[in-house]
Amino acid sequence: MITRRSVLGGAVAAAGLPLLAPGTFAGGEAHAARTLPPAGPRRASDPVPPAFSTAMPVPPVLRPLSSSGGVDVYELTIRRARAQILPGTATEVLTYDGHFPGPVIHARSGRRVLVRHRNGLDMPVSVHLHGASVPPSSDGNPMDVFAPGASRTYVYTNRQPHASLWFHDHAHHMEAEHVYRGLTGSYLLTDDLEQSLPLPKGQYDVPITIRDARFDENGQLAYTMADRNRTTILANGRPTPYFRVAARKYRFRLLNGSNLRLFALSLSDGTPLTQMASDGGLLERPVAVPVLTLSPGERADVIVDFSRHRVGTRLVLTNSGPGNPAQIGKVLRFDVVRTADDPSSVPRVLRTLPPAAALPKAAVTRHIELSMDEDGRPDPRGFVNGQMFDPDRIDTTVAFGSSEIWQVTNANKRVPHNFHLHLVQFRVLERGGKPAGPTEAGLKDTVRVLPGETVKLHVTFDAFRGDYVYHCHMLDHSAMGMMATFRVR
Ligand code: C2O
Ligand code: CU
Ligand code: CU
Repeated sequence: MITRRSVLGGAVAAAGLPLLAPGTFAGGEAHAARTLPPAGPRRASDPVPPAFSTAMPVPPVLRPLSSSGGVDVYELTIRRARAQILPGTATEVLTYDGHFPGPVIHARSGRRVLVRHRNGLDMPVSVHLHGASVPPSSDGNPMDVFAPGASRTYVYTNRQPHASLWFHDHAHHMEAEHVYRGLTGSYLLTDDLEQSLPLPKGQYDVPITIRDARFDENGQLAYTMADRNRTTILANGRPTPYFRVAARKYRFRLLNGSNLRLFALSLSDGTPLTQMASDGGLLERPVAVPVLTLSPGERADVIVDFSRHRVGTRLVLTNSGPGNPAQIGKVLRFDVVRTADDPSSVPRVLRTLPPAAALPKAAVTRHIELSMDEDGRPDPRGFVNGQMFDPDRIDTTVAFGSSEIWQVTNANKRVPHNFHLHLVQFRVLERGGKPAGPTEAGLKDTVRVLPGETVKLHVTFDAFRGDYVYHCHMLDHSAMGMMATFRVR
């Protein structure tokens, strides 16, 4: 059965984010911004087709090899494959079991999942389940790689509430290129609470991973660190595709799978998106979001109600994030092609979370500063509190069971960053000294931190002991060194 789920992502730019100011996002892409080719007519040699000429696929749902005794067992091979991303062209990609876009695993809270990965590549890999609460042995730490030809079994106990998680490669220094070339997949964890709600389900619940890429003249993925010329937008692995929908409500699970790009998403008819979940699952209540911002690694689930439109309507999901709008301004087009019954609805209250004032008292306040070289050197370095990643160093030690406040600052003037902690879902208390907006009020594992900004997070470390990493999830930056290790003991 191919179920569709959607990962809608984004943060609201409703607050008039500085996102759109020219140059604001120059950061990792500053040089590229200056060398962008003009958005002139397409060259005959351009392998990327005009917008909306391919259909957006829904990623395949993996079936467990066995499913008994409360455990679902999967076996996957990590291998090279050829994908038809651009019409008539075979593009070499790195995949989980040959799938591009990456496959989907469905899981249920309280039920264990075992994934046995065989490494069919010629380089080491590590598989990280982003957003999951797992012991260190199954976290996919950057140094905990397995060799070509070797296999590794990851155990996911799923002792956490529903959430749209994703898995991706995390091999030290290679994570950015591996993810860019395709090593990602969705892991959709559900629970009784989520299942009890009348939200759109089945084929009306569609995961959509959006990302950018650069193709060379042969239609192959070109990778260079901090490349500002990744101007082809892919939705579920196809360039600016169309997607045929019925005139009813859909849940789209949006994931920003880019290495650097920030998206600012809107619907072309001007109606707001209805965001109902973020990284760590449902928000307390749905939020109308005119512009949904989504930094790399963040997820947002949105509801779009196509019943307002007659059959034949075409709606474009647009991107007003940094970049040349002629190149990156369109993500995908929804074509309303039929009517359909719609028994779904979106409750006004989706879940309850403790208010900020009721969170466990924090024992410690920490200051984390993210930065990278901005002086245009060819090989920029990334830093956390002034130091590049050193896997042999424990940067932060926290007490098991305690809660802490982490104040995370982007010390750069032009480069945006974001911040991701393994192991935990945290709460965003403040952004720039003001209470976080409604789209960031749920459980989060990744949060954007724009140039000069500080976000204040509340984190509780009560799940597992051991060593985990935190880093900027603009993966070109983490590969440059913007990563550090925390130990729970
Ligand atoms: Cu998705 Cu260490 O990250
Ligand atoms: Cu992670
Ligand atoms: Cu960064």
